[in-house]
Amino acid sequence: MASDITAREHPAGSVLSLRGATLRFDRRTLWQGLDLDVAPGEFIAVLGANGSGKTSLLRAILGRQPLSAGEALVAGEPVTAGNPRIGYVPQQKLADEGTPLRARDLVGLGIDGGKWGFWPSRSKRARVDRLLADVGATAYANVPVSTLSGGEQQRLRIGQALASDPRLLLADEPLASLDLSNQSAVSELIDRHRHERGFGVLFVTHDVNPVLSIVDRVLYLAGGRFRIGTPDEVLRSDVLSALYGSPVDVVHARGRIIVVGTPDSGHAPHDEHHDAGHEEVCDHNPEDAEAVAL
Ligand SMILES: Nc1ncnc2c1ncn2[C@@H]1O[C@H](COP(=O)(O)OP(=O)(O)O)[C@@H](O)[C@H]1O
Ligand SMILES: [Mg+2]
Repeated sequence: MASDITAREHPAGSVLSLRGATLRFDRRTLWQGLDLDVAPGEFIAVLGANGSGKTSLLRAILGRQPLSAGEALVAGEPVTAGNPRIGYVPQQKLADEGTPLRARDLVGLGIDGGKWGFWPSRSKRARVDRLLADVGATAYANVPVSTLSGGEQQRLRIGQALASDPRLLLADEPLASLDLSNQSAVSELIDRHRHERGFGVLFVTHDVNPVLSIVDRVLYLAGGRFRIGTPDEVLRSDVLSALYGSPVDVVHARGRIIVVGTPDSGHAPHDEHHDAGHEEVCDHNPEDAEAVAL
């Protein structure tokens, strides 16, 4: 029975527990046999080319995408849509110009999903003020979101995601389109709160460098397979070459890690996500997909 498996195989206290998690679309396997336990306060960077299934993994954990096989538990419970134990920062979309929503309204949505009146207004206001302060957004609390910079908007979206006091934070490319100083600010914000509040983090990023000093482990998805381990264990030429099944170089230069020569890097040189941290881009179609756990 599923409940027996759950009790036996999932360590108590994990904020996320995946067992044999597999996702296929038609004949294409995005990942399979994925086993992962995320401890409270643990920070995991999710790396991989565009199309390797990073967003789909988050969607599966959110209960928006059924697994093809395997099991996923969040804080010991089977996944459910709308789980308040998960904070979610979706892939960034800047607010449309003219959106009347103020900064504090956006954060407030994380408390009650916009159902005004569910929280007594004074207590809700105090909570919103606290969250705004937590993410360093007090100064622009009453400003329309659409007038704020990408970095400012991203702080608010993290505040919104933290409003339900989650056990697990899922952040999908939260650094995309931010300049270097905002990349550091947003990374440090999440890092500070995961220690203070003890939530686990799955942090999807195209470039590991901005979070290299923060991450506990990386989950690297490629060609229907994956590796999990510390950055030193996974971000190595031999390990990634084995994962991709072709020669890949991991180069250390000026304190940065650069992955060169991934099979998917040559196909889409104009891809918007192409950057120095990860050469790999574009979709690929793994035939012989197989899970490789480190
Ligand atoms: N519901 C779906 N049905 C069919 N294919 C899908 C579906 N959702 C995602 N995909 C495909 O799965 C692949 C992985 O997508 P995604 O998880 O968004 O990758 P990533 O976030 O790593 O770029 C893509 O090729 C995408 O088109
Ligand atoms: Mg994605």
